[in-house]
Amino acid sequence: MASFIPRASKRLRLGAPSSQWICNDCRRTFASSIQSRQQQQPASSQRVGQDEKTTHFGYQTVAEDLKAGRVRDVFSSVASNYDTMNDLMSLGIHRLWKDHFVRSLNPGIPPSSRTHHPDQGMKILDIAGGTGDIAFRHLDHSSTINADHHTSVIVSDINPDMLAEGRKRFAASPYHATGRVSFLEANAEELGAVESGSIDLYTVAFGIRNFTHKQNALEEAFRVLKPGGVFACLEFTPQLSNPLLNAVYKRWSFGAIPLIGQIVAADRDSYQYLVESIERFPSQQKFAGMIRKAGFLIPGQDPKDEVVRSGWEDLTMGIAAIHKGVKPA
Ligand SMILES: C[S@@+](CC[C@H](N)C(=O)[O-])C[C@H]1O[C@@H](n2cnc3c(N)ncnc32)[C@H](O)[C@@H]1O
Repeated sequence: MASFIPRASKRLRLGAPSSQWICNDCRRTFASSIQSRQQQQPASSQRVGQDEKTTHFGYQTVAEDLKAGRVRDVFSSVASNYDTMNDLMSLGIHRLWKDHFVRSLNPGIPPSSRTHHPDQGMKILDIAGGTGDIAFRHLDHSSTINADHHTSVIVSDINPDMLAEGRKRFAASPYHATGRVSFLEANAEELGAVESGSIDLYTVAFGIRNFTHKQNALEEAFRVLKPGGVFACLEFTPQLSNPLLNAVYKRWSFGAIPLIGQIVAADRDSYQYLVESIERFPSQQKFAGMIRKAGFLIPGQDPKDEVVRSGWEDLTMGIAAIHKGVKPA
């Protein structure tokens, strides 16, 4: 693990994919027909009592204790189409982001670092792991790049339907019955089933924006990690820094994604929520502050270096970003 941390922080320097993934035809089609929902003010569509704590569910305001259930319903509804929809909505780019995310973490322990313990592997917790996209990549990377066949992943998710899809995929994979993957149904804000200081690497991809209490989840991440362990998050950002590109991108996401959801999965509302939830996620700067507040050190933060100055890495014009934190040793 000791050799893993500096490598991970160095690799924050890797250039982000620069794919221009909004085609001209799509722009024309959607720009002319779509009234951007993003400019509408959030509507309070769920009645809440006066003393109840509220939070957002996309653009709606809901009682805090109802949000996890509403999010669960969304993902139960999309579970069986989730992988296909991901490809359609991102034109396949989510695969490049996930590849880059996992490569930058270099999961697994290379033979040169396990001379005294040849069977040693990392213990990885993939939170909001859904259908297992990130877990597969962790295991593939650790086996093929680091020749480590011992590193294991716990795929954890609040939603049993998403986990069921993940189980199905792993059952048909070479990792089936290797003991390298296990599943845990749990809310990321209360990981009571995971022992404190037991995890080397905690990852969460496109999950944290759905959590009700994101700071609690970060504190749980800190608790379960070993000293020197790494927290890594891949998530959409609420806004692109270039206002013109931002406007084009928002037209695409608010116009196309719910429409694709309607056509392919007969479920416009769930996909409407998914794009609205992106708008509600904190900016990169604010989220980095939350990671720091949970106790993490942010590797690679260097005021003199443009690429890593901020402590996070923007991907594809800043549509998504990677954040990392290290639990102090
Ligand atoms: C957009 S999917 C991402 C799945 C996977 N990580 C990926 O990148 O393909 C978001 C996942 O977050 C899960 N999720 C939402 N709220 C959660 C919570 N409070 N605790 C754990 N998982 C949660 C959902 O059930 C869903 O599987």
